[in-house]
Amino acid sequence: MAAEQREKFGGRLAVILAMAGSAIGLGNIWRFPYMVGEHGGAAFVIVYIIATLLISLPVFLSEVMIGRRSHTNARDAFARLSRHHPFWKAAGYLTIIIPTLIASYYSVIGGWSLEYLFQSCAFRLSAMDPAETSGIFGAFVTKSWAPVAMHLLFLLLTVGVVAGGVKAGIEKFSKITLPVLFVLIVVILVYSVSLPGSAAGVSYLLKPDWSELTPRTFAYAMGQSFFSLSLGMGAIITYGSYVNKKENILSTSAGTAVSDLLFAILAGFAIMPAVFAAGIEPGAGPGLIFQSIPYVFAKMGTDLPVVSGIVSILFFLTIVVAAMTSCISLVEVGVSFLMERTGMSRGKACVLLFGICGGLGVLCSLSFGPLSGFKVAGMTLFDLFDWVCSNILLLVMGLLAVVFVGWILPRRVVHDEFTSRNRYAFNNRIFPVVWFLIKWIAPVAVLIIFLTNFIL
Ligand code: PHE
Repeated sequence: MAAEQREKFGGRLAVILAMAGSAIGLGNIWRFPYMVGEHGGAAFVIVYIIATLLISLPVFLSEVMIGRRSHTNARDAFARLSRHHPFWKAAGYLTIIIPTLIASYYSVIGGWSLEYLFQSCAFRLSAMDPAETSGIFGAFVTKSWAPVAMHLLFLLLTVGVVAGGVKAGIEKFSKITLPVLFVLIVVILVYSVSLPGSAAGVSYLLKPDWSELTPRTFAYAMGQSFFSLSLGMGAIITYGSYVNKKENILSTSAGTAVSDLLFAILAGFAIMPAVFAAGIEPGAGPGLIFQSIPYVFAKMGTDLPVVSGIVSILFFLTIVVAAMTSCISLVEVGVSFLMERTGMSRGKACVLLFGICGGLGVLCSLSFGPLSGFKVAGMTLFDLFDWVCSNILLLVMGLLAVVFVGWILPRRVVHDEFTSRNRYAFNNRIFPVVWFLIKWIAPVAVLIIFLTNFIL
């Protein structure tokens, strides 16, 4: 597709919303709380915040710059900007493979959310005995076909939006859902901290136990931060390519990073107190929110059944939509690549991606049930996909992105992009700091953190 014909986002707010729509998703609401629970509570949260601001933000800026400068899909971006250097041409493929892998297992969790949405619509969560809430999760995920069907339905809905195109589909979608999700998280947070027994959950998030801090905490916090900001997988490069040349990328990137951080922390405070109130183990793993949130609704349902019923529907509806806006950006990476590389139509590319992600996702979904005994390196297929993507591939790709901007692109080009051709005085002033972070701090930190996965 010729450069002039590429679709563009409508303006600053549209960019932030679309990027935040990609960033804010199950990573914040589902993954962050259980990562906190598995890796040391408040200590993890602190490492996570520092990693996001000092490392992920420079990586985010780098990816936006690569996208905007190259004005093409994530795979070709590296090739074009490096003048077709074979290494960067090959590296570019990772940006297509990773999001496709993630979309496969991400849509499994999207499917769980859809199931809970249907349960809420039947007013089952609000009418449940609070003592039984955590059991329904296990009963559902260990079935074979029910979760698979939900996964495929979720993926079908996502791919349907992608088929509608960037402007029509993605932009409009995020505008409504993010503010609603924000309000609902706050409602749940307020209710959750009022439950008896919830105080332990609040202090779990606020009082760091430094003895819990191990080198692995850094690796998982970094992986979580990349995952949550949609880094290291071409999504932000692709969205960056739709950003207007005049846009201030510092404010859009920082706006996205801060809202993503805020959402994760709010979700933590909405969920952890409920986990403690319900007597669930914080390290319970991927099912954590699906076990604890229904407890909140069941409790609320004993006093206010109608309110609880309605809030539960709205909550799972917004989770489904937030998951979809993220999954859309994962699928969009592959779709835009296929369209621009092979000349395939958007519709055909969508069908192909549905087939690939659907098939891999079925295996991940079954790994909670019939395939739970099948393990590779002690991990189920789902855990393996998640670990390989978040702890390995994202870090590798994020590292390549900062190295590319810090070491391959000329400083002048990076300056040009960062300041939108000297349009923003503040960006001009802080450029040396950002340059230092991109050239030295971020790559060295990511490299060290990456290596701890293997050495420690
Ligand atoms: N950042 C999204 C989330 O937190 C997940 C995602 C990853 C979306 C990568 C797009 C690309 O849920």
